[in-house]
Amino acid sequence: VGFKRFVTILEITVGIAALAFVIALFVNEPSQPGTASYQGPGAAIFAANCARCHGADGSGGIGPQLADRVTKVFPDPAAQIAVVTHGRGGMPAFGGDLTKAQIAQVVDFTRKGLG
Ligand code: HEC
Repeated sequence: VGFKRFVTILEITVGIAALAFVIALFVNEPSQPGTASYQGPGAAIFAANCARCHGADGSGGIGPQLADRVTKVFPDPAAQIAVVTHGRGGMPAFGGDLTKAQIAQVVDFTRKGLG
């Protein structure tokens, strides 16, 4: 009797684990690289101000690739905000064109929305 009960508990546990795994698969789907579903205000700011140099998908052009890179180059978003605000080399300063909030939003987008 004890063993049968143990097996039943085991079956239920495995069943729940399998269900959780399947749910996790579906929940994680949108955040896979290339299928980023970030829909913040930063997306439009990026398209209007940054895409011409960094590419609409952040893959680079006149400016370096940002997608998949900025979180490694700038572990601290504040350092990335500083580059966008003050410019650097061929990177124009946006501190005069965009508000602090807009810069924070577009930086957030490059970190989360470009995959
Ligand atoms: C006129 C072209 C141009 C535009 C427009 C532009 N960038 Fe850049 N960006 C560059 C260039 C060139 C660099 C490389 C500068 C350097 O390394 O000194 C750069 C560098 C950067 C970097 C640093 C990347 C790294 O790997 O160090 C970030 C972050 C960045 N840009 C974000 C943005 C954002 C956000 C916008 C829009 C608000 C934007 N850029 C608009 C040309 C541009």
